[in-house]
Amino acid sequence: MKHDLSISFCNVPCENPFFLSSSCVAGNYDMCSRALEAGWGGIVFKTIGFYQANEVSPRFDTLAHGGVPFGGFRNLEQISDHPLEENLDVLHRLKQAYPQKVLVASIMGETEDEWTKLAKLSEQAGVDLLECNFSCPQMTVKSMGSDVGQSEELVETYCRAVRKGTKLPILAKMTPNIGNMEPVAIAAIRGGADGIAAINTIKSITRLDVAHFNAYPDVDGQSSVSGYSGKAVRPIALRFVNDLARHPQLQNVPISGIGGIETWRDALEFILLGASNVQVTTAVMEYGYRIIDDMLDGLSEYMEEKEISQLSGLVGRALPHIVPSNALRRDYRVLPTFDHAACVGCGRCFLSCRDGAHQAIAWEKGPRKPHLLEEKCVGCHLCTLVCPTQAISPGKRVAKT
Ligand SMILES: Cc1cc2nc3c(=O)[nH]c(=O)nc-3n(C[C@H](O)[C@H](O)[C@H](O)COP(=O)(O)O)c2cc1C
Repeated sequence: MKHDLSISFCNVPCENPFFLSSSCVAGNYDMCSRALEAGWGGIVFKTIGFYQANEVSPRFDTLAHGGVPFGGFRNLEQISDHPLEENLDVLHRLKQAYPQKVLVASIMGETEDEWTKLAKLSEQAGVDLLECNFSCPQMTVKSMGSDVGQSEELVETYCRAVRKGTKLPILAKMTPNIGNMEPVAIAAIRGGADGIAAINTIKSITRLDVAHFNAYPDVDGQSSVSGYSGKAVRPIALRFVNDLARHPQLQNVPISGIGGIETWRDALEFILLGASNVQVTTAVMEYGYRIIDDMLDGLSEYMEEKEISQLSGLVGRALPHIVPSNALRRDYRVLPTFDHAACVGCGRCFLSCRDGAHQAIAWEKGPRKPHLLEEKCVGCHLCTLVCPTQAISPGKRVAKT
């Protein structure tokens, strides 16, 4: 039996916290319908606006890592390339067909008037929430996208314009192409937003075609800087969510966590850092809507194991453990221990310690086994991380002298 994964987000009841994020995975009626039937709790529909995108071909690139094709993913897509009327009609039909699911309209205007009108039209279409896209890094129009999301003034002004057009809860979707996200998020709340969604994609160049001196994807011999997503961005997204969740001026502001979520565990990490909703695109592009099965099962088993009955009880649970670096204890070392039975004698711990750390591992040539030189070991644990057979683990804690 599945645990109850319901949670309230911006005062909207959600049957589970897993939403598709605004992108090509949520771009038409049929796709959204299949995703909702598969078990997703809600959908942030592909960003709509008066502007209709004209896209390039090809428009994606990936950075493979360790046999995983989508280590990181780059896209050159802008907002929807369908007419606004068509998108509004899809939103309307989706809400009628799935009244229990949460439908979010992602909107992007070019002027205050456009933002207000888009808010009004989306509310009329019947959506539950609005998400303001202040963060697409590859818009061809300068007055739209992540340049807007870097300006506190514009974000506040446009949130105010959206608030003028709707009574629905408003999310501001943040750009990570900025040092600190909190001032922009605070400006969004000042302007009338109710919650924050983070992150959109990170400006990037993934790979170069060195034979032709161009970057991928190759668009008639040229390429462009554009948004990076997928598992490679998760640590950056987690950092931003952590920063938002702990800021004194953002207490009790609901956060939707986005960036590199593939599994229930990835999603849980965002929840533990303060998100009460999570969104996914790249993993769905790679594996399909069915990844929701693992997310629902995994999270529900975890809650059962931890004897936590309400998902809200997990939100922000890791925050007290993340402290400024100057607050961390620095008065001891944890020495690694070696399980010689599990060791395959590859020597990687020895090499990494010798060339990348503190020359604290001695190598026995005959039996090909590592031995710790305790006095030289600083307890950095590089050896535990490079060991391919988990034969090295944290051992005794010794006080620094
Ligand atoms: C192909 C593609 C299209 C996207 N289109 C949009 C969009 O229209 N609006 C938006 O707010 N974000 C858009 N995004 C960003 C995603 O919603 C999401 O914020 C980002 O990809 C990080 O999540 P992920 O790692 O799960 O993909 C797009 C991302 C991709 C990969």
